[in-house]
Amino acid sequence: MIKPKKSESAAITIFGAKGDLTSRKLIPAFYNLYADGHLPTAFAIFCVDFVTIDEQAYRDELLTADNQFSRSGKADKDKWAAFSANIFYIQGDFQQAKTYNTLKEKIKDFEQKQKQKGSRMFYFAVAPRFIEIIGDALCQAKLCTSDTQHRIVVEKPFGTDLDSAKKLNRYLSKRFEEKQIYHIDHYLGKEMVQNIMAFRFANHVFEPLWNKNYIDHIQISVAEEVSVGKRGGYYDSSGALRDMIQNHLLQLFCIIAMDCPKQYEAEAIRDAKVKVLKQVRPLTTDGVFKNVVRGQYTEGEIHGEKQVAYRQEGQVAPDSPTETFVAAKLLIDSERWKGVPFFLRTGKCMARQSSVITIQFKESPHKIFKDDIVPNKLIMSIQPELEIGLLFESKVPGLHMKLTPVEMDFMYKDNYSQSLPEAYEALLLDVLEGDATSFMRTDQIEQAWKIVMPIINAWKKFPRKQLQFYPAGSWGPAAADRLLKPYAKEWFKLAPRNEVAHNTAAIE
Ligand code: BG6
Repeated sequence: MIKPKKSESAAITIFGAKGDLTSRKLIPAFYNLYADGHLPTAFAIFCVDFVTIDEQAYRDELLTADNQFSRSGKADKDKWAAFSANIFYIQGDFQQAKTYNTLKEKIKDFEQKQKQKGSRMFYFAVAPRFIEIIGDALCQAKLCTSDTQHRIVVEKPFGTDLDSAKKLNRYLSKRFEEKQIYHIDHYLGKEMVQNIMAFRFANHVFEPLWNKNYIDHIQISVAEEVSVGKRGGYYDSSGALRDMIQNHLLQLFCIIAMDCPKQYEAEAIRDAKVKVLKQVRPLTTDGVFKNVVRGQYTEGEIHGEKQVAYRQEGQVAPDSPTETFVAAKLLIDSERWKGVPFFLRTGKCMARQSSVITIQFKESPHKIFKDDIVPNKLIMSIQPELEIGLLFESKVPGLHMKLTPVEMDFMYKDNYSQSLPEAYEALLLDVLEGDATSFMRTDQIEQAWKIVMPIINAWKKFPRKQLQFYPAGSWGPAAADRLLKPYAKEWFKLAPRNEVAHNTAAIE
């Protein structure tokens, strides 16, 4: 793909400068981009927030966070000094014109010094209620004009249901061109997620098998060890369906299920994703209770550490019915996928972190061996390990024809020595370069809401019906295994690499 020309200067503004996202993700990502030579030669990062803090003290705070959270570890002293000299703190209320006047002056000064207009990025690292306030102010102050080099970056949640998402989208599209709006979903910046595109569409060997003739079912599972922690207030009104399924898991679903796009280009890829989302069979209320499992963690232990029940977490209602776990079976009404179920699962406080996509192939139709044959499986592990494995049958070495399943593996850590860029690095660079390939288009977001709305509505109507409980540190409620039962005994788990047993089939 031809990338748009690297912008020669960039004025970056982060609203929500004092928030966790800025210190843990955005600044470390910008720093790594700078350290690796990917930022434009001239750049400025204007960080806006309500809190009063001296600029140098703010930079020092960012350094402490960078040292703790950056994938590259402690920042290099000289590089950090040079990088952080481009960070400017602006104390201001998002609701006051004064804030934007100050910002405008600073951006203009910066651009005049560069003797060029360059690009402008406005990152909304703020609570949803500020989006419209900041959006209006940016337009009124003519900070973000219709120039396609002026871009806004919006974080999820993109609404809390289809209506609110439409309202937000209508609001944004009245003020900004679609080409200027970057809806960020950090899963689309993950290295392995980006590699699935390459794997599917650059290797002709797999694409002919990618359909109902060869595939029995597909599992997309994002298991998290972490609890809701300090985010109880937000989480209790969101739940796993809105927090993970509507966005991250449906994004993974799109990449696995979409047809080959016309070309590797933002609009073609997003068209292909919207097409497959539209083909998902809508669930009825009955269908929700048959095909979707919701669960909530109770107290337990994760890696020897005690974990309180969800209902005991801070800012969570003591009788909360909010789900911290969801497993769902989706069907796609298309020629390619007729009858192939897609199982999506996510949960907090599970036994261990493991995000894995499993393509379960069908059994071989013609059996010539006496042994039971384990059908082929293609495993794509997104995190914590990054790898692609193919499970296939092989002859046990020896004098007789005895078979055993073995795995052919491509592991990132064995093939690449450098530390991999964080999702935010890839995505922020894309925004600077005007490449929307890994961002969601408005119609895609609305289509994803259409898929989850029947679930939201059914659960709203019957708030406690079939709510399952699972102990923290387990793999979720048994009902999620029962959902899979006609297709597989249990959800596929990738053994952590230090626990992998060598093939124990006895040599004959
Ligand atoms: C966020 C969710 O979008 O993604 C969190 O709000 C979740 O609840 C997180 O923990 C998971 O992201 P990752 O990159 O840690 O898998």
